[in-house]
Parts: sequence; C-alpha cells; structure tokens
Amino acid sequence: MDVLKQIEDVKRQAKEALAKVKNSQELEQFRIQYLGTKGALKDLMSLLGKVAKEMKPQVGQTLNALKNEITAEFEQRKSQLGGAQEVGPQIDLTEPGKRPAIGNEHILVRVTNELTELFGRMGFSTAAGPEVEDEFHNFVALNIPKSHPARDPLDNFYLAPAGEAGRFEDVPEGKAMLLRTQTSTVQIRVMEKQQPPIRVVIPGRVYRPDTHDATHLSMFHQLEALVVDKGVTMVDLKSTVMQFVQAYFGKDTKARFRPSFFPFTEPSAEVDVWFEDKGRWIELGGCGMVHPNVLSACNIDPEIYTGWAFGFGIERIAMRKYGIDDIRLFVENDVRFLGQF
Ligand code: DAH
Repeated sequence: MDVLKQIEDVKRQAKEALAKVKNSQELEQFRIQYLGTKGALKDLMSLLGKVAKEMKPQVGQTLNALKNEITAEFEQRKSQLGGAQEVGPQIDLTEPGKRPAIGNEHILVRVTNELTELFGRMGFSTAAGPEVEDEFHNFVALNIPKSHPARDPLDNFYLAPAGEAGRFEDVPEGKAMLLRTQTSTVQIRVMEKQQPPIRVVIPGRVYRPDTHDATHLSMFHQLEALVVDKGVTMVDLKSTVMQFVQAYFGKDTKARFRPSFFPFTEPSAEVDVWFEDKGRWIELGGCGMVHPNVLSACNIDPEIYTGWAFGFGIERIAMRKYGIDDIRLFVENDVRFLGQF
C-alpha cells in the first residue's frame, strides 16, 4: 500500500510541475526530472522488485498507467509549446546594453560657445543680427563707398532686387539686399540701438562667392567684437586680443599685429597667431580703431567716444585650436570627423 501511495504522490507532483511549465527549456527540465533515465518514474520502477509478490501485478499496472498518462501529457504540452526546437528567448538580460549612438555638438558650435563664454568673462555681452542684410549695414554705414571693389556683384551674393525692373541700378543706394559678407554689419545694428559704453561680441555666419579649397568656403563664421567708450585706445584693443589669444590657445602662444587697411577702421591691423603644428602664422582676421565716420553714421559723437573692433574667422580659430587642417571638414558632415570632438 505504501508503494501505491508513493506512486500517487509522484503522479500529483508530476502534474503540478507540468502545469507550471512555461517554455521548452522548462519542459526539457521536466522530462529529465520525471521521464528521464534517472527520473522519478524510473525510481518508482525500481521499487517494483521490492514489493510483495501478490502486489506486483497491481503495482506494475499502476506504474504503467502512470507512465502512459504522464508521457501523453508531456507530448501534449510539447506540441502546445511549438516543438522541441523552440528554446525560448535567446536574450541574456544580465548583459550590459548596447550604447545608442547619440550625436554631439558640432565643433563650430562648441568653439563659438567657448569664445562667447571667454569674452563673457572679460565683460562682453553677445549680440546677433540678420544674415540677409541691406547694403546700408553691410557697406554704407561701414564707410565702404559705392565705388569700392568689395561691393562688386561678383564678390557678393546679391539677392534679386525687388520691383518691376529688377535691375540693381534702379535700387536706391543702400537698399539692395545681400547675404552679409561680414559680421561687422552687426556693429552698426548694435550702435543704432545703443549708446556707449558698448562692449559686445557677435558670432555669426557670413557668405562670399569663393571657390572652395582647404582654406576657403563660400559660407563661414566670424566673431566680431566692438568696444565703444570714452578714452578707448589701441592699447585696449591690443591687450584684449593678446589676452584672448593666450587664454584660448595657451599662455605662451605667439601673436602678431600687421598694419592693414579696412574702410571702417583707422588705424587697421591684421592679427596672426603662430601655428606650432604647421610651423607657420595663421591669420585670424582684421581689427582696428573704429573709423569716426562709422560712429557718426550711428549717431555716436566721435569727438566724445572712441572704439575698437575686430572680426576673426571662427573656423580659423577652431583649426588652430584643434589642429584641423582643411576647412571643408567642417561642412562635409563626416561622422568620423564630427565624432572626434
Ligand atoms: N569685416 C572684416 C572682414 O570680414 C574683418 C574686420 C576687420 C572686422 C577689421 C573688424 C575690423 O571689426 O575692425 O574682412
């Protein structure tokens, strides 16, 4: 009787275990545990030899019935789970995840932010102006007369003039529209709105019909600076530029001022920074003392106020800072380049 009770127990356990099976892996575990060569049913079979002779037929039949019943239920479950080849999800949830590729700031955005932040610490606020400009802000107010070669249609992206005739000759002086060629336009826009003291930097995009090569693009960026106040001199300009150069590129960085000419500054200079990697000077851009005509055009009295300004190429600055030797890399959008910064 003892043995029959044991068989009943195994039967109940097997049915409970089978009911809990959720996938093929668990089903295989079940098979090993109950139907395998070392399984629970085999154990019961071995008891058969030990029972009293007169009990043997009954115990034998009960065991056979149990084996058939469990095997049938096992087969049924197996077909429900979609066959033996199904092994459940092949995911190891303890594996570290794959990092999704997230982008980063474009190197020019980063450099621009570094520059405005650096000048911010030197007391400069940041201003902006439109990229589609009129000739007044791009030329006239900057003391660049009609006859100046910088106003040649071939050197500018003029926009089709409004009006019936659609001829540049018919557009009143200063009213023709173009993509700005310099951020100096925003000097004018700032001074139109604000009387001195002025201390501002202006990062922005500019456009020129240039043939693209390692150092030229038809669209690039400039950082303009303008300081207007009483008693401002060339010393302030030079010391601010040197301070910037050494703060941004390193305190031993060499820079030089070369005499130059711009219609909107007098005197004017160009600033070069020593490019150690290349063993040569790299030109950052122009600067100078704001021309009295420019102050007057903005209703600022040049007898009372003086000012200085500069306009540096942001790509040039980025190239010098990060050792980039081809300006075209900034606009090719090759992630192997962009991802380095
Ligand atoms: N606007 C000039 C250019 O694009 C650069 C420049 C020169 C800006 C002298 C200035 C300046 O503010 O003072 O070539």
